[in-house]
Amino acid sequence: MIGSRSSPRRLVNVALLTVAVGGALSLLMVAVSGPHYQQQKQQQQGHHPRLPRHTHQQNHQHQNPFASSSSPQHRQPNQQENEILSNEESTSNRENSIRDRIPGWPYSLRINEPAMCEGQDVYLLNAVTSNPTGVYHRDMIRKMWGSDAIARRLKMRTVFIMGAVLSPVTQKHLQDESDRYHDIVQFDFLETRKNLTIKSLAAIHWYRAFCTNATWMLKCDVDAYINFFALLDILRPVNNTKDAVCARSMTRSVCREATQHGCLSHYVVDPKEYAPHTYPPYCQGYAYVLHGRLADRMLEEDSKRVGPPLWLEDVYVTGLLPKDLNARWLDVRRKSQVVPVSIRTEFHNGSMLFVHDLEGQIGQGATSYVWSQTLNHYNIT
Ligand SMILES: *[C@@H]1O[C@H](CO)[C@@H](O)[C@H](O)[C@H]1NC(C)=O
Ligand SMILES: *[C@@H]1O[C@H](CO)[C@@H](O)[C@H](O)[C@H]1NC(C)=O
Ligand SMILES: *[C@@H]1O[C@H](CO)[C@@H](O)[C@H](O)[C@H]1NC(C)=O
Ligand SMILES: *[C@@H]1O[C@H](CO)[C@@H](O)[C@H](O)[C@H]1NC(C)=O
Repeated sequence: MIGSRSSPRRLVNVALLTVAVGGALSLLMVAVSGPHYQQQKQQQQGHHPRLPRHTHQQNHQHQNPFASSSSPQHRQPNQQENEILSNEESTSNRENSIRDRIPGWPYSLRINEPAMCEGQDVYLLNAVTSNPTGVYHRDMIRKMWGSDAIARRLKMRTVFIMGAVLSPVTQKHLQDESDRYHDIVQFDFLETRKNLTIKSLAAIHWYRAFCTNATWMLKCDVDAYINFFALLDILRPVNNTKDAVCARSMTRSVCREATQHGCLSHYVVDPKEYAPHTYPPYCQGYAYVLHGRLADRMLEEDSKRVGPPLWLEDVYVTGLLPKDLNARWLDVRRKSQVVPVSIRTEFHNGSMLFVHDLEGQIGQGATSYVWSQTLNHYNIT
C-alpha cells in the first residue's frame, strides 16, 4: 500500500550500455513471447499491481470456486485451447495428495514444484508474487538472483507464486515456461488485484508445506530489487532473535473516502470490510521476510478467522495477522527505498536492502544495471 507509485514514471539517465542491453532484451522478449510481453507492459503502465481494480469486495474469497465444478488440476493445457478452466475431469482423477492441495488451505495447486527444496540445504526461500503474464520480470530474475549459481552460493531458492487465469493460451504458455524452468507455483484462485492477500497467504502456505528447510521466507513483488548479499548479512545474526525483517510503518488511519486527506480511491475501505479507524503497524508489502516459526503462527491465526481476509495485502498479512503474536520485528525502514528517483550507490553497496519498482520508476534496464554493480561490489564474477 505504501509501495504505491506516488510520482509519474520518469526517465532518468541510466548508463547507455544498460539501456542498450535492456532494449535488446525487450526486443528479444517481444520476439519470444509476443502477447505475454505486451500484456505485461500494459499492466505496468496501468495501476500498480497492489491496487485493487474494484472497490467492492467479493464474498467467500476463501472458498474454492473450482472445487464444486471438478477443476482440472493437472490438465494438459495444450489439449483444448478453447476450453476455459473446464469442468470435465472426473472426480476419480483428482488427487488429494499434498502435491495438489495443502492441508487447511482451500485452493488447489495447478502447477507445483514439490521437490524444489526437498533434502536440500536452503536458508532463504525467495517467494516472488508474480502473475501468469509476468514473464518479462521472471526472465530478468532468472538471469540475476534467480540463477543457479546465485542460488547455490546463497543457499536460496526462487519460486514464482501466482493465481489462475481464464485464458487457455496464457495457461499453455505458463505451462511451457514451467516445464522449462521448474520455478512456477500456481494456485487456482483467480489472479486479481483484490486477491493479492490470498496470493501472499498462498506463498506462506507453500513455504511451510514444501520448503520448511528454509529458515526464512522473503515475500517480494516481481518488480522489487533485493540486495540479497546485504539481506543475508542482516538475517544470519538474527536467526534466533528476530521473527521478521521489513520496513515497518506506524499505525495509520483507514481511508473511508477518496476526498479524505492522503487517500487514494484505491485504498478506500468499507467499514463492513474493516471496522476500526486505524491499521496496526505493518510492513511495506513489496518485500518482507518471515521466519518459519512466525509464518506457522500466522497461518494458524489466519485459519481461525472467519470471512474473507482484508484485501489490503500488506495490512492484512503483516499487520492484522501477527498483531497479537508478539513477533520480534527488525525494522529496516532506512534500508528500503519506495520511490527511487535515480540510481544511487546505496542500491548496490549494502546500504539498501529493498528498492521498489526500479524499472518502472527509473527506466528499462535499471534493475540489471544495479544488479551488475552489486556483483562488482561483492566481487562476484
Ligand atoms: C535441510 O536439508 C539438508 C539436507 O537434507 C540438511 O542437511 C539440513 O540440515 C536441513 N536444514 C534444515 C534447517 O532443516
Ligand atoms: C478471488 O478469487 C476467487 C477464487 O478464484 C474468485 O472467486 C473471486 O472472484 C476473486 N475475488 C476478486 C475480488 O477478484
Ligand atoms: C540459525 O539458527 C540455527 C538454530 O540455532 C542454527 O543451527 C543455524 O546454524 C543458524 N544458521 C545460521 C546461518 O546462522
Ligand atoms: C554506500 O554508499 C554511500 C554513498 O557513497 C555511503 O554514504 C554509504 O556509507 C555506503 N554504505 C556502505 C554500507 O558501504
